[in-house]
Amino acid sequence: MGDILDLIKTRRNVKYFLPKFVSWENISRVIDAGRHAPSCGNIQNWKFIVVMNPDSKQQLAELAHQQYEIIQAPVLIVVCSELEKAERYYGVRGEKLYSIQNCAAAIQNMLLEAHSLGLATRWIGAFNDDEVKEMLNIPAEISVQAIIALGYAKEVPPKPPKFPLESLVFFGSWRNRLKDPAKYLNDIATILGRKTQASKETIMKGVDFVKEKVEEKVKDFKEKNI
Ligand SMILES: Cc1cc2nc3c(=O)[nH]c(=O)nc-3n(C[C@H](O)[C@H](O)[C@H](O)COP(=O)(O)O)c2cc1C
Repeated sequence: MGDILDLIKTRRNVKYFLPKFVSWENISRVIDAGRHAPSCGNIQNWKFIVVMNPDSKQQLAELAHQQYEIIQAPVLIVVCSELEKAERYYGVRGEKLYSIQNCAAAIQNMLLEAHSLGLATRWIGAFNDDEVKEMLNIPAEISVQAIIALGYAKEVPPKPPKFPLESLVFFGSWRNRLKDPAKYLNDIATILGRKTQASKETIMKGVDFVKEKVEEKVKDFKEKNI
């Protein structure tokens, strides 16, 4: 699979995993993709805890509101955010917004790399923060952002519906929709090209009109010998 858009579109949040080992090479490739994500000021406020022990996985599944299917995944990656790092450089905005966005970018990188390796993932966001922190000895100033279950899919769910592009895009300002979005949104260069061509044609029509009028006047003057 080469095209990034193909990867993005075919990745699925997988519920059931096969009890099949994932190589360390693949685990490290997935985490490596995470660490190359963008982050505000490149602060890289993330840490990744790899959990493979069956008892620990069982406990995490319980703390994730009994999402027991993740026990079958050979690897759980707990994504942690160093909030203080973001707060130190960017204040409240850093702590409350950037730190989360940074980790979400890292998570998405990991999901896509896993998918490109033929692996499957499940993003777990619902869990008891305090209890997960206690279980994994995570310090108070760190926030747990997600648990990624990583493994081989037992079954890949069908693609859930996604909103059409034209219902999500405004042009220039809020709620300003394109008149013919389906035609346009596939290729913005074509839209701009068409608009330029339309403007050019309008201007040329104007030029022709003026030219015609001037010629009429000249002819008129000549006939009247002015
Ligand atoms: C912030 C966040 C939290 C999520 N939490 C869970 C979760 O606790 N359990 C789960 O099975 N899926 C969870 N998901 C995955 C979504 O349910 C899934 O991405 C969505 O249904 C769309 O499916 P798709 O990823 O296959 O396109 C979470 C996703 C996000 C972004």
